[in-house]
Amino acid sequence: MATQYDQPFSCIMLDIDHFKRCNDAYGHNVGDAVLRATAGILRMSSRKEQTVCRLGGEEFLILCPSATAPEAAVGAERLRQAVESNRIIRGDVEVSVAVSAGVAERDHRTESPEDLLKRADEALCTAKRAGRNRVCLAGGSPRPDLIGPGHDSASLVRPPTTSHDVADAQVKVLIADDNGDDRAFCRTLLEREGHDVTEAVDGLDALAKVNQSPPDIIIMDLMMPNLNGLQCTRCLKGDPATHGIPVIMASAAAKGADVVASLEAGVDEFIAKPIRPKEFVLRVQSMARLSRGKAEFIRSNELRGEHARALSVLADLSWALAAAGSLERVLDSIIAAAAELTRCRRVSIMLPDKERDYLTIARSIGIDSSVASAVRVPAGEGIAGQVFLTGDSALFNTHEATPPDTRFYGSEPLPGAPLLSKALAASNRVVGVLNIAERHGGNAFDAAELEYVNLLSNMAASAIEEFVTREARDQARESVVIALATLAEYRDTDTGRHLDRVTRYALLLTDELQNEEPFAAEIDDEFPEDLRRAMPLHDVGKVVVPDHILLKPDKLTPAEWEIMRRHAEVGAETLRSVIARTPAVRFLKMAEQIARSHHEWYNGKGYPQALSGEDIPLPARIAALADVYDALTTQRPYKDAFSHEAAVNIIRGASGSQFDPAVVDAFLKRQAEFASLAIQLADNLDSADLTQMAVSS
Ligand code: C2E
Ligand code: SIN
Ligand code: SIN
Ligand code: FE
Repeated sequence: MATQYDQPFSCIMLDIDHFKRCNDAYGHNVGDAVLRATAGILRMSSRKEQTVCRLGGEEFLILCPSATAPEAAVGAERLRQAVESNRIIRGDVEVSVAVSAGVAERDHRTESPEDLLKRADEALCTAKRAGRNRVCLAGGSPRPDLIGPGHDSASLVRPPTTSHDVADAQVKVLIADDNGDDRAFCRTLLEREGHDVTEAVDGLDALAKVNQSPPDIIIMDLMMPNLNGLQCTRCLKGDPATHGIPVIMASAAAKGADVVASLEAGVDEFIAKPIRPKEFVLRVQSMARLSRGKAEFIRSNELRGEHARALSVLADLSWALAAAGSLERVLDSIIAAAAELTRCRRVSIMLPDKERDYLTIARSIGIDSSVASAVRVPAGEGIAGQVFLTGDSALFNTHEATPPDTRFYGSEPLPGAPLLSKALAASNRVVGVLNIAERHGGNAFDAAELEYVNLLSNMAASAIEEFVTREARDQARESVVIALATLAEYRDTDTGRHLDRVTRYALLLTDELQNEEPFAAEIDDEFPEDLRRAMPLHDVGKVVVPDHILLKPDKLTPAEWEIMRRHAEVGAETLRSVIARTPAVRFLKMAEQIARSHHEWYNGKGYPQALSGEDIPLPARIAALADVYDALTTQRPYKDAFSHEAAVNIIRGASGSQFDPAVVDAFLKRQAEFASLAIQLADNLDSADLTQMAVSS
């Protein structure tokens, strides 16, 4: 079984160079166009297995499953060149865009996804510091010589003609002063600079005005009636809603005691009265800039934290998908990631049947399994059925929009909004439907979350498609191998029914044994299905036994017997060579064991390896009895058929010598069913024609 540690995993953190400058110089329309165009170029130029995520701002993350750091760096360099060689034209503005990238490979033994992203981010910073428009690998010095031309992309964007600084923008100022002349003076100074001024006549009035409409900054007089400046400041700073608003204390004489008291109250700045106009305006502006910068910084870090969490879930999913050994594992990883990203309790993946006529729930959490297994939605009906047929997603984000159609849930009530039913589309084909519902807290999905689900769905769809295709391929391979086995059988028995019978006998024995210690542990859920597919291959090695031996009506000579015995090893080796090409298929491994060891005896006197007891794999011990019961009860070129009763006696007598006593016990308990299967699946008269055909071909 492949573990996720077998696969390398890398990511590329990529950032548009000088994006702010571009935005400032040409405006947001051009900025948006640059972002969209760059995203498009990245998606088009990236490989199929890579996932391109926009991190917000002008930053992108590209997940590269199965890629080592150097491979990912080569990929990053390809993306860098692709972006560089494009001109983005919007109206009469033509912009050249360049990107910097940081690449990191996950150290599987020690590293969390967050750490990986952090290292990629650091590598990106290094690329920026080294002059931008280049790729750097994490964990080392910048290697502009390794990749990328490394000329500063600064020259690629024309510098803005007029610099428009955020901090020069209008500031909302509240002036709290009981002296009307002072208020008027300040108002005039600030309004001349284009700022928006409100006045408060005392401390209480100031609190009321802040409540009505919070300003960017407050100029506070120290001595005022109805709450002085200190008391008012204390109130503002003690309230989480207002405590971020900077307060500048204006006072005539900055006495030491006043300063200490003011600082204790939470005052941010002092300004001396009488006011000096130029200094006053500058102080207010720089204070506003600082406070906005801080707010923006906090906000962007909160966003980043949320992004980082989501992206690390996606990164985890990406490499879990790359390493998954079965469709079930793929589906489980997708569901876990979807639940975590959206904080929803109820997530299911529905897959279509072969004819794509209806959907069933292939895997789910938060749905009672009896309900889940009963769901069967015709394509085009209900929410999921329509989503599947049209490829459009259905989003019921508010309670008013709760869908009225409950058909496809059977008797279960439909979960409330928000509810998202998303088509999983790969190569323009819908391969399944992802349903997400029952969100903790019940609030609507926001735009970022929907985008995460989008990314997840794209990754999910291609992983599912790959597995469905792989299963179809396996089935095709299986049928080829079985056709081969059947052909081999046609020569030595009357019909291919022999394979049917031994398979059914083996399944009967398995059914009996799985309730018993110590077999219960080995016979897991997949065991019977694997056995059903493996059993027909037990004698596939007989293809190398010549007809004159196989169909000989007499006893075999020692030399002939030598050749006959080889069928066990030959069959096992044949299957092993198939396995070498499809390592994930478990039934083939079981088939190899059965082919090799179905003629071993429990007492060690069988062939080809003279294994004994539990050294003989369980499937082979089961197969041995099934095979012999059938050989005994049917006619063979070299022998007549025994009755069921005679066969039972022979097998009972071989308990502990040829056969595992536990398997014989299971046989004795179910012998009535053996007898009726033998009759039901007997080679009938019609099969004589088949024998002719098979033998002559
Ligand atoms: P097969 O005919 O499918 O028989 C499978 C197994 O059933 C045999 O494995 C043997 O364990 C058991 N078996 C078959 N007939 C009898 C029987 O009359 N009495 C008892 N006690 N057990 C029986 P084995 O012996 O390893 O033989 C493997 C294969 O070799 C047989 O497969 C058959 O194809 C061939 N073979 C065995 N003996 C002869 C023979 O005398 N003449 C010919 N032409 N082929 C033989
Ligand atoms: C730019 O790319 O110039 C803006 C951001 C940065 O320098 O890292
Ligand atoms: C679910 O209950 O989430 C899956 C069933 C459906 O959407 O029809
Ligand atoms: Fe055999």
